[in-house]
Amino acid sequence: MAIERTFSIIKPDATARDLTGAINATIETAGLRIVAQKRVRMTREQAETFYAVHRQRPFFGELVATMTSGPVVVQVLEGNNAIAAYRDLMGATDPAKAAPGTIRKLYAKSIGENSVHGSDAADTAVQEIAQFFSGNEIVG
Ligand code: CMP
Repeated sequence: MAIERTFSIIKPDATARDLTGAINATIETAGLRIVAQKRVRMTREQAETFYAVHRQRPFFGELVATMTSGPVVVQVLEGNNAIAAYRDLMGATDPAKAAPGTIRKLYAKSIGENSVHGSDAADTAVQEIAQFFSGNEIVG
């Protein structure tokens, strides 16, 4: 199995409920190592850049507003097949469809306030990590 890195965001709905530690415990229990982490307030420009692929979607404005409504914790996770492993751990985007035991089933409030984000592919993981971390901030 390949050791990969993926990008994660603990979203404002989760930081508002002080769920960072609980979510991190779930991540580590699943065998993913948190090799970089910081708590930041995303600017509107950062959120619009990060979610640029969704710019034409009807929920884009609400998505940017939600992601800038409070602090987020941005992370780099490392482990075997980390991209797919973290997507499995997060569960479906819509928490109503998320499997039992997944982060979104446990904690998410709605599709818009779904507690966590994870990269969907290797190329987006590289781009997303580079938007928030420089190489020397990632310590494997
Ligand atoms: P995320 O994995 O961060 O990627 C895009 C986000 O858009 C998604 O999680 C959801 O939180 C948010 N979103 C809001 N409304 C929708 C929707 N109708 N369909 C998909 N994603 C949505």
